Amino acid sequence: MHGTLKGKHLVSLRDWSNDEINLALDTAKDLKRRHYMDLPTPILQYKTIALMFFEASTRTRNSMEMGIAQLGGHANYLDTSTMQISHGEVARDTGVILSSFGHGLACRNCNWGEGNAYISEMAKYASRPVMNLQCDLYHPMQGLADLMTIQEKCGPTKGLKVSIIWAFATSHKKPISVPLTQALLFSRYGMEVTLAHPPGFELPDWVIEEAKKNAWANGGSFRVIDSMEEAFKDADIVIPKNWGSWSGKGPEPNINDFKQWKCTLALMQTASNKVYYMHALPADRGNEVEDAVIDGPQSIVYQEAENRLHTAKAVMALTL
Ligand code: CP
Repeated sequence: MHGTLKGKHLVSLRDWSNDEINLALDTAKDLKRRHYMDLPTPILQYKTIALMFFEASTRTRNSMEMGIAQLGGHANYLDTSTMQISHGEVARDTGVILSSFGHGLACRNCNWGEGNAYISEMAKYASRPVMNLQCDLYHPMQGLADLMTIQEKCGPTKGLKVSIIWAFATSHKKPISVPLTQALLFSRYGMEVTLAHPPGFELPDWVIEEAKKNAWANGGSFRVIDSMEEAFKDADIVIPKNWGSWSGKGPEPNINDFKQWKCTLALMQTASNKVYYMHALPADRGNEVEDAVIDGPQSIVYQEAENRLHTAKAVMALTL
């Protein structure tokens, strides 16, 4: 590919071409090899990035902090409750100022109806690249790590049967950003994508339309069903994960009506004999998934989580 990613924002993978995504994945695979060989990678010496978090994080925060340190730079972790945001400072002012101090700015803000607008506003005014560390709509860093993991385990993605499946959980009302990102990304890579959920947990209509267009343009398929059993049947990859009801199409569903939407060993046995189980984590063990599955031989969740480090390093190395 021609051109450079220097200075490019990553608010959504929709703004990156497949060539740009492939470059990020090639870079991540190269950085992973160097990490395993303990080779120094001083690509971002003396560069700094500010990491703003409106919510808790384990993987995202540490992949960025440890990632930039391993590249020779430094990250400044910012809990937004301790910033002047809590006194009303606006996204534009925060974006302009923090980007003038360093080389990049990254933010997690999953507040429904606000997060993406907030990060986009910072990107509009920042003088340095802005990275979305998860908002109400997108989780591009997770999407990159998921795609890298699928390629590592399965090779070429064309024709792979991948099922993104709603699962029951009792923890907090989670954003739709992980399944939404996966639906829009995997459909660009020729996969046969199934999205399965009970009524009330729909993704926005525009996402379904765009995923179908992506699939059509890239030789794959995209379907939406309401049966967990059907989604597991013959699947090569299953990604059962909880998300909240945000569509606003009807009354809020009673989540307790859908306790049977759990990833079990019995369901895994109905999938392809080489099926892999994925989850962005953290998982709600015992509700979303049986321990026997997430701790079993078909689970690749730890490789998926580790790839958050390599992909985060790749994005920073290419854009900062
Ligand atoms: N998957 C993911 O984004 O994990 P964290 O919430 O721990 O960052």
